[in-house]
Amino acid sequence: MALLIKNGIIITSGEEINADILIEGEKITEIGINLSPSADCEIIDATGKYIMPGGVDQHVHFSFNYKGSKVRGFETSNAAAVGGTTTLIEFVNQEIGKGLVESITDYIKTDVDGIAMVDYSFHSVMTDPRDEVIEEIPKLAEAGFPTMKLFMAYKGMFFHADDDTILKALLKGKEAGITVMVHAENAEMIDVLSKELIKEGKTSPYYHAVSRPPIVEAEATRRAVYLAELAGAPLYVVHVSCKEAMEIVREAYCNGQKVYGETCSHYLVLDKEDLAKEDFEGAKYVCSPALRTEEHRQALWEAIDKKWLNAVSSDHCGFDWINQKHMGFGEGKSFADIPNGAPSLQNRLNILWTYGVCTGKITKSRFVDLIATMPAKINGLAEKGSLTVGYDADIVIFDPDFRGIISVENNLENVDFCPFEGFEQKGRADKVYLRGKLIVDGGKYIGEKGQGKLIHGKPFGDAYK
Ligand code: URP
Ligand code: ZN
Ligand code: ZN
Repeated sequence: MALLIKNGIIITSGEEINADILIEGEKITEIGINLSPSADCEIIDATGKYIMPGGVDQHVHFSFNYKGSKVRGFETSNAAAVGGTTTLIEFVNQEIGKGLVESITDYIKTDVDGIAMVDYSFHSVMTDPRDEVIEEIPKLAEAGFPTMKLFMAYKGMFFHADDDTILKALLKGKEAGITVMVHAENAEMIDVLSKELIKEGKTSPYYHAVSRPPIVEAEATRRAVYLAELAGAPLYVVHVSCKEAMEIVREAYCNGQKVYGETCSHYLVLDKEDLAKEDFEGAKYVCSPALRTEEHRQALWEAIDKKWLNAVSSDHCGFDWINQKHMGFGEGKSFADIPNGAPSLQNRLNILWTYGVCTGKITKSRFVDLIATMPAKINGLAEKGSLTVGYDADIVIFDPDFRGIISVENNLENVDFCPFEGFEQKGRADKVYLRGKLIVDGGKYIGEKGQGKLIHGKPFGDAYK
């Protein structure tokens, strides 16, 4: 049956318009004023609501493993749906002894197929940069995975990448239109500072932030930008958290380099001092890069408004507090043993709307650009992230009048805490459609397991333009 959404205000990355949207099957087939319904058409009255594209979260971890402890996986992807996100992109580590594409296709078979509740795509994470693996990089583009992430941080972990690996990936990737993404933090600096702090008995979660100050991120960002310049390749810097790193991305872009970056919801509203919360509560806020101060948050808000950064992701990492964050608690343990990452899949849009749109820091159109349109373009997801005829009917009917308090109590991430606990929430995704199918109604998830579909990305995404 066709669906006609009437009387709402459509928000795109460019404008706000009063118009109707017709959905037939999985696609948007018409957008116009006063569209007339056909006889078998269901009409949805969206009076007082905003109509937006479903969110695209390009930075989600459903398989991240920190010192043997693993995050929640695709069985919690309905948390994305209730938060207004209909497509997510997960990072798949190359398994030792396996190829890049094989690691992704095997992961789909074991952990995704029949489980995912929103659409999904993947970034490859190269962990074993032998010559034949470097040669395989262009095959990722052929297989529909045109992005690769490398971790400059995490010294000693199997997924850490040295400069030679990054340079080789940039050079090989650009032949095939693959966008290289980096987690930019200087692993050596962190290692030295961490060991010094631990030797001095400074082991509590707060020292996670002390062990990785902004200069650690700035140095690696600058180095990655130089490597990209040398390679003549685009670069995407994930989870930019500080003013200095943002300015390096901005400067490179202004100098004509194809350098882009995102920030994440937690860097816009949480503070370094959260890590000092008593009774080991500070561990809930251990993520990398570390949380910063008001000065940095202001710089990030300005950057997303002025397009110096082009996306807001979640960097969702579903580690719980009681069992997993407590790996860093007790005799002989320190902040360095606490799994890095914050659960934030469900609240990405809520945070950006409440603290960005409602405070006047960004417009509604910029909001849509940051949470959906740009991430789709950067990752080559051709029919996602925009309310456009011919695109997938991934649609959020957003109720701006909703008022609530963010809490773990109504969270589907299946983690025992929420880093935004107690934050006021203005507005919410009231109805969410995934390729024309209603999967959230009245803010409640009503979809099915396995309804998510693999979306192949096209090479030479927006970072090449
Ligand atoms: O602390 C974080 N960000 N954990 C997830 C893995 C990563 O570094 O992106
Ligand atoms: Zn990272
Ligand atoms: Zn991450």
